[in-house]
Amino acid sequence: MSSGGSERVAGAERAVRSATARAHPNLALVKYWGKRDEVLVLPHQSSLSLTLAPLSVTAAVELGVGAGEDEVTINGVRAIGQERERVLRMVGRVQAGRPELAGAHVVTAGDFPAAAGLASSAAAFAALAVAARAAAGEKADARAASILARLGSGSASRSVQGGFCAWHRGDRVDGKDSYAEQLFPPSHWPEVRMVVAVVAKEEKEVKSRDGMRHTVATSPYYGAWVEDAEQEVTRAVNAVRRRDLEELGMIAERNAWRMHATALAADPPLCYLKPKTLEVIQAIARLRAQGVPAWFTLDAGPNPVVLTDEKSEPTVTALCRGLGADPVVPCSPGGDAELVGELPA
Ligand code: PMV
Repeated sequence: MSSGGSERVAGAERAVRSATARAHPNLALVKYWGKRDEVLVLPHQSSLSLTLAPLSVTAAVELGVGAGEDEVTINGVRAIGQERERVLRMVGRVQAGRPELAGAHVVTAGDFPAAAGLASSAAAFAALAVAARAAAGEKADARAASILARLGSGSASRSVQGGFCAWHRGDRVDGKDSYAEQLFPPSHWPEVRMVVAVVAKEEKEVKSRDGMRHTVATSPYYGAWVEDAEQEVTRAVNAVRRRDLEELGMIAERNAWRMHATALAADPPLCYLKPKTLEVIQAIARLRAQGVPAWFTLDAGPNPVVLTDEKSEPTVTALCRGLGADPVVPCSPGGDAELVGELPA
């Protein structure tokens, strides 16, 4: 919801404008790993993801609170340093050239613990982009919100809309053609499930941003990873169109292996896998050999996410729990980021 209040500051009437939005995280089935432009967050390749319910992050933005009054609070903790700067830089895009919007208060709150092993930054920056644009009085525009979210975190570009979203890499140097869009809404394939199996809760040692920069700079496999990416997205999109879980699962698994292979070939090597990661991945392969449709994917961290269907989800969840993963979070296709009344209590 977008609202406004006004106050008198230094003799001038200044309107404080606010809006709150909620977004779901997303998980890439064909991944993005590597930027061609670090500042504009432009990827070397396109990617495809599924937005995940029920997890969400809500972001409240107040603009026009006064120059020098910026405040960023993330999950109840006042943000400092790079984290704060990243949020303010993104919000600064909607404030640019509009002195009446100077100064921002930003609060984000996730309904899943950071320890859930799913990066909350995609949902947070998508919610923030939608809220910041609304607070600035911009019309709802999924493409513009995706481009703004991208500046906070690349994968956030894919959390502005629900269902299956493709982030087009684009060719332009200004990044105006690098945005994500929904290809299929959640209703296209409501039976799909993704089960997040947390095998390690500690923060990863190398953040995605640093890991991909290091991979681009030093991995001899990086060119091969990029070369196949566009066709891989097309193949995955066709599998989603046909609701072919087996084909999509095979693509997702090999894509995750290839991303990790490029990182493992970096110098020094970058290994995000833990022994428990492999244990779960191998158990999923055995389950599949018994006829259960289940395929893993893996972001830049140790926690596998298993692609399956509604019928097999309880079997997959029980298997992951039996191996000691905790928590294990079954997710379904989630909807668009949307404006909401307020932050959850
Ligand atoms: O958007 P970032 O900086 O969190 O990077 C995300 C990279 C991966 O999660 C590994 C892959 C992806 O496409 O989401």
